[in-house]
Amino acid sequence: MARGSEQTHFGYDRVPLEDKQRRVDDVFHSVARRYDLMNDLMSGGLHRAWKDTLVTAVNPPSGEREFAVLDLAGGTGDVAFRVAEAGGPGTRVIVCDVNADMLAVGRERAVERGLDHSVTFEQGNAEELVYPDHHFDCVTMAFGIRNVPRIESALAQAYRVLRHGGRFLCLEFSSVDVPGFDALYELYSFQVIPRIGEVVTGDREAYRYLVESIRKFPKPKIFVQMIEAAGFRRVSYTPMTAGVVALHSGWRL
Ligand SMILES: C[S@@+](CC[C@H](N)C(=O)[O-])C[C@H]1O[C@@H](n2cnc3c(N)ncnc32)[C@H](O)[C@@H]1O
Repeated sequence: MARGSEQTHFGYDRVPLEDKQRRVDDVFHSVARRYDLMNDLMSGGLHRAWKDTLVTAVNPPSGEREFAVLDLAGGTGDVAFRVAEAGGPGTRVIVCDVNADMLAVGRERAVERGLDHSVTFEQGNAEELVYPDHHFDCVTMAFGIRNVPRIESALAQAYRVLRHGGRFLCLEFSSVDVPGFDALYELYSFQVIPRIGEVVTGDREAYRYLVESIRKFPKPKIFVQMIEAAGFRRVSYTPMTAGVVALHSGWRL
C-alpha cells in the first residue's frame, strides 16, 4: 500500500496516517492550559503515584554523576520534574514534545519550581529525533506513545538515542481485565471523563479522543512485542491499578 493511503486510528475514527498528528496536535493545543488539572480530576490524583513508580524505575543517581534523560512526549514536564527532583546535580532532563503549547506551559512550571536549570524543553517529533546515537542514559515516555502515528518509528528512535545499558520506560494506559471493575471503568471512561473534560476545558471531544485512544492502543503483550521488535532486550511490563495503566520497560544491551 502506498504510504500516503495508509490508515490509522484517531480514537475510534479511521483516518489517513498523515492526518493523525494534526488532529492530536489540535487536542493538546486545546487542553494545554488545563491539562495538569484534568489529570488530577480524571485520575483522582492517581497519575501522581503512577508517575512516581516510573521515576523509581528511572532511578537517577543522587550524586554528581552525569545522568541524561530524554522525556519523550513530555508535555508540561510532569515526569521530567519528578526525575530532576529525585536525582542529584548531575541529572539533566530534556522534555521533547511536538506541541508548542504544552511546552510553553512546561517552561512556566519549570521556572516556578526553580527547575529550569535541570529541565529543558525542546520541540520535536518522537518519530524523528534530532539527538545523536547513544546519547541518553534513560528515555521515558508517559501517556505519549498512543498519540504518535508511527509507534514503530518512535520506538526505533528511542532505541537509537539510548546508550548501551540504557533503559526505555514507557507508562501508558493499558487494559483492565478484572470482572466487575472493567464495567465500572468503562462507564466512568465513556460517561464521566468526557463530561469533566467539557466542564473544565470546554472540549468534550478531546476527552472522548483520550478514552477511545486508550481502547485502541495495543494490548500489553502486543506492545511488548513491538518494543522487542525495536531491538530492546529484557522487555517487561508491570500493570498498575488493576491494569488501568502499565509500565513497560526495555533495555538497550
Ligand atoms: C497525554 S500527554 C502526556 C504528557 C506527559 N508525558 C504527561 O504524562 O503528563 C501526550 C503528549 O504527547 C505529545 N505528542 C503527541 N504526538 C507526539 C509526537 N509525534 N512526538 C512527540 N510528542 C508527541 C502531545 O503533544 C502531548 O503533550
